[in-house]
Amino acid sequence: MKRPIFQIESPQRLVLSMAACSLLILGCSRKPALTEEEFAKAESFFAESCLICHSAQEMQRGPIIDGLPAWYSKAQLEKFRDGVRGQNPENRSELLMGSARDRFEDDEAIRLLSAYIDELPPKPHMKVVRGNAERGQLIYGTCLLCHGAYGQGNERLRSPPLNILEDWYLLDQLRKFASGKRGYHPEDPYGIQMAYSLKGFNDQDLKDVVAYIQGFSEALETE
Ligand code: HEC
Ligand code: HEC
Repeated sequence: MKRPIFQIESPQRLVLSMAACSLLILGCSRKPALTEEEFAKAESFFAESCLICHSAQEMQRGPIIDGLPAWYSKAQLEKFRDGVRGQNPENRSELLMGSARDRFEDDEAIRLLSAYIDELPPKPHMKVVRGNAERGQLIYGTCLLCHGAYGQGNERLRSPPLNILEDWYLLDQLRKFASGKRGYHPEDPYGIQMAYSLKGFNDQDLKDVVAYIQGFSEALETE
């Protein structure tokens, strides 16, 4: 069981733990989104079209995305396909991902890939960002409402989990949101909302909040 980092007083705490418990039950009894046949199809599709950039090998050019929830990957793949993400020449890594969009043009491909990524267990990763986690905890107070007390994400608010992502990627994306390279497209209301949430933070603040978020993945690994 993932442990919340923030101490919450009852009765809110009770409500939260009940919600976590029902989520757990739902999670346990959840029917897999893919049949065995679909899973095998998605697996070879992913190996052919995506692994070259999304593996844990040193030469990887993209983030490790194993375990991202299907609703989030689906939303992002649709954004890449429709040019809402991945068309800005100033954002070179996004452009790279955008160059793969001919591989997931139809909705069925996106459904298969998103559900497949969801089923991959999150991978442990190296930590490379240094920052002051204590300061970061204070800053995280502004993120918590959308991303959850332990970075678990919130589907209702379309806010992805942060506790399964590599720290370099978190910092990279925060810098992009803060500098207008992500979350600027008029058809990207959630990206715009995220970019707006970083108003007033400087680069040290971003490093510190990432240092704090790193602690969530430690909690994840010791489960
Ligand atoms: C040529 C390299 C490359 C290929 C091929 C590629 N990707 Fe990516 N992908 C990237 C990069 C780089 C990023 C990060 C973009 C950024 O920095 O904003 C990314 C981002 C993503 C994201 C968003 C992650 C997030 O946290 O927002 C998803 C989902 C994704 N890729 C899925 C796929 C899938 C599925 C395939 C195969 C059909 C694929 N990618 C093929 C390079 C690639
Ligand atoms: C108002 C809600 C909200 C707040 C507050 C917020 N976020 Fe977000 N965040 C989002 C949404 C929604 C997205 C997804 C954007 C998209 O679809 O591209 C996101 C995306 C991200 C991503 C990109 C993840 C990925 O996989 O590419 C990071 C990193 C992130 N947020 C970190 C933070 C941090 C750190 C804070 C606090 C300083 C914060 N967010 C505050 C809503 C929020």
